[in-house]
Amino acid sequence: MKYELLGEQGDFIMENPDLVSGLYFPLANEAGVMSSISPDLGGDSKMDQNSFLLPPVSIDNLHNDRSSRNIWCRINGKELWSLTGRSAWQQAKKFSRYKEPVVLEAGFMHHKITRISEEIGCKAELSSVVPATGETVELMKIQIQNISNEYKNLQVITAIPMYARSADNIRDHRHVTALLHRIKTTDCGVMVTPTMTFDERGHKRNDRSYGVFGGNETQKPMGYYPVLGDFIGEGGNLETPRALFESCLDVKGANYETGGYEALGGLCFSECRVAPQETITYVIAMGYGKSEKDLMENCCGFLSEAAFDRCWNETKEYWKEKVNVSLQTGDSEFDRFMKWVSFQPMLRRIYGCSFLPHHDYGKGGRGWRDLWQDCLALLMMNPGGVRQMLLDHFGGVRFDGTNATIIGSGQGEFIADRNNITRVWMDHGIWPFLTTELYIHQTGDLGILLESNSYFKDMQAVRGEEKDTLWKPEEGERLKDKENHIYTGTILEHLLIQNLTSFYEVGEHNHIRIRGADWNDALDLANERGESVAFTAMYASNLDGLAALLAALGAQGINEFQLAEEILVLLTEDETIYDDINRKKEILAEYCKKSIHQVSGEKMTIRGDRLQKDLKGKAEWIYNHIRETEWVTSKDGHGWYNGYYDNSGNKVEGDHETGVRMMLTSQVFTLMSGTATDDQVREIVKSANAYLYRREVGGYRLNTDFHEVKMDLGRMFGFAYGHKENGAVFSHMAVMFGNALYRRQASKEGYGALFALFDHCSDFEKSRIYPGIPEYIDASGRGVYHYLTGAASWYLVTVLTQMFGIRGYYGNLTFRPQLLKEQFDENNQASASLEFAGRSLKIIYKNPDQLEPETYQVHGITINGVSYQSGRQDSIIEREHIISLPEHQLHIIEISLNGTGRD
Ligand code: G1P
Repeated sequence: MKYELLGEQGDFIMENPDLVSGLYFPLANEAGVMSSISPDLGGDSKMDQNSFLLPPVSIDNLHNDRSSRNIWCRINGKELWSLTGRSAWQQAKKFSRYKEPVVLEAGFMHHKITRISEEIGCKAELSSVVPATGETVELMKIQIQNISNEYKNLQVITAIPMYARSADNIRDHRHVTALLHRIKTTDCGVMVTPTMTFDERGHKRNDRSYGVFGGNETQKPMGYYPVLGDFIGEGGNLETPRALFESCLDVKGANYETGGYEALGGLCFSECRVAPQETITYVIAMGYGKSEKDLMENCCGFLSEAAFDRCWNETKEYWKEKVNVSLQTGDSEFDRFMKWVSFQPMLRRIYGCSFLPHHDYGKGGRGWRDLWQDCLALLMMNPGGVRQMLLDHFGGVRFDGTNATIIGSGQGEFIADRNNITRVWMDHGIWPFLTTELYIHQTGDLGILLESNSYFKDMQAVRGEEKDTLWKPEEGERLKDKENHIYTGTILEHLLIQNLTSFYEVGEHNHIRIRGADWNDALDLANERGESVAFTAMYASNLDGLAALLAALGAQGINEFQLAEEILVLLTEDETIYDDINRKKEILAEYCKKSIHQVSGEKMTIRGDRLQKDLKGKAEWIYNHIRETEWVTSKDGHGWYNGYYDNSGNKVEGDHETGVRMMLTSQVFTLMSGTATDDQVREIVKSANAYLYRREVGGYRLNTDFHEVKMDLGRMFGFAYGHKENGAVFSHMAVMFGNALYRRQASKEGYGALFALFDHCSDFEKSRIYPGIPEYIDASGRGVYHYLTGAASWYLVTVLTQMFGIRGYYGNLTFRPQLLKEQFDENNQASASLEFAGRSLKIIYKNPDQLEPETYQVHGITINGVSYQSGRQDSIIEREHIISLPEHQLHIIEISLNGTGRD
């Protein structure tokens, strides 16, 4: 079984997807409609945690629940056929030779299922889409063709349960909240407007209406089943609904009102006499509104085939335009896979991390890491709004260097945790710098560092170790100075605070404490004594990187900076204290306590060169400390970095009586940060290949099997080995491993890490997912938690900036390709189309001598056929030159690769 990719945009077709478990597909829009749909039209639709139109589903409900977007057809007044295969009799034949053939055709935000029944003599097509134009509705076009040689009488009845409330009520007050339902029929559908909402927000007046409407150019429903219980009948269910087995349908008319029951989008159309080969068509709109009027406005304009088709085409076009990166390599399957990978960060921006069937944790929103990592992909595709987005995100940093963890739905909206749950993830300070640095290189906008924003304030203080009891929610969630004015500092100041405070927060081995966890959320049981060497290494590289940005500002004549005076204590000339764990802790405590409730508001002026020296000194100290203390070797002769200390204060990695213990994260960040020496790069790859690489599950696993439920490190050890954070191929880290290897010029190995993942994911027999990259691959090789993963952003950025080596350097465009010989096509070319500096560029690499990256270098550049000579280096095009190219047209940049060796 597999799917077949069609065209260049990632559209695909697949036979009998209903024979595979766990498949779901996203349908959504930027107005907040989030649907998931399975091959038999299960899944759900919601706008947020408290507004589910269809009953909320987790992965297992996808198969075991009877609620779905079911469409029935009664044929000649007798047989009942479910267009989605969800009747008891069709289910019973599913695994026999009488199974009805089903075909899926799908692409970005559109999904069509075709089902044929020779026995019934009908073909059904169900096309689903959520309009990109922003109406809060999911649409379905129903088409039934009479494929027999006889006339048939066909009658369509929809049976779509309307849950119409908060996911919290799926178990908690499920029945009582049905009593809140007020159900109404109109001349084209059924609406539910609950009187109140009962959920964690308390008992509130409800302001959301839900509805299912239907019709076509000439017909409206002839009647309704607005109440679920009436439709399924005594002893029936949604796959054997008693109402349809009664000899005469007992439907309600328009303007019928009732309440207190589970509601059903049960729309009954008049029977039609359908000639052989003739098709009947209806459109169903399942929508949301802020009022009944708003609901009808969102839905009713779509109830014709013409309106549906227009929406279908517009939506396809919209998302095609949005995914504006495309590749042409020697492997067209890879190029089309990359279309889906590029689309995934857009899905994550809409769905957050909670609203597809596997993602059944959390109540919506995105986390701190996601905010910053989703920007990486945006920087590649739509850099326009990113500047403001970054500035706004910095408003989530606290003055103690930690950050808000509850992120509101509006950009720059951060919320204090009313339950006062204190949790500090030690890696959170890493990501803002990485994204800001990429932004600066892609745009040349160093000035962003000098822009200002406020700091987040809540009751948590001293990096989560204390509470600021003086703070009251009424004061607002922004830090104030002693004059009670909102305090603002530069983005540079925010970054310095995040990275410097971390530098001082060390444990007993003088690495940064892991606190609540690091990137691996499941390393959450080492709060007291645990340390993350892996991310300590990355903080060093951030400190170094900050120094580099300061040097670049210096080169522009900006050599003095205004910083909050409180920061001075974190900038010490005395490097001897770096070895002194207690002194470090004291310095951090002194800093944090000074600003526990408010800051002075006084600024000091500091010279850039002094800052640079300080930051570099700290970075250097960390690099050396890790190099000297954390390289481990196993008795079978392999070497790699230990990345963790557990809550008992012990080194985690190395030989152990239960077997070798190695973690991929530790290698990724020691490589990426430059802590690992060039010789160690090779050693690490060898060790990772020996202990972590499993081709059959998609490449590099997150860790070896510790054979221990390690209660002094994290809940991950409670997961069975090979699953999620315990030893799965976790895409995000596997991709970052690839990125780190490319950064260290290990092109072949970097490619190997990315390729293994692609190769596995796109082999449907093994991965069992639609095109794209899942959060992880489980022990059996199945891709799980599809679509919503930070791995997609990193994959895209790595392919463009490392594999293709097309990246900004302080705004200029540079070319450092690391494409392997095998990645070029039959004409020895590989190309990428993307936006840079507001211009559409197609960059074509030519490798006529079929060289490998170690032996080629950029030899000549032409732009639109004209040779380009940069004032600087062969492999740079200056930004001014790109900006001088006309807008709104594609510019062809051809780059010859030739010669010997890397420069
Ligand atoms: C998920 C989380 C991410 C976390 C990771 C490891 O990864 O979203 O924040 O770091 O698990 O615990 P993702 O969904 O990005 O693949």
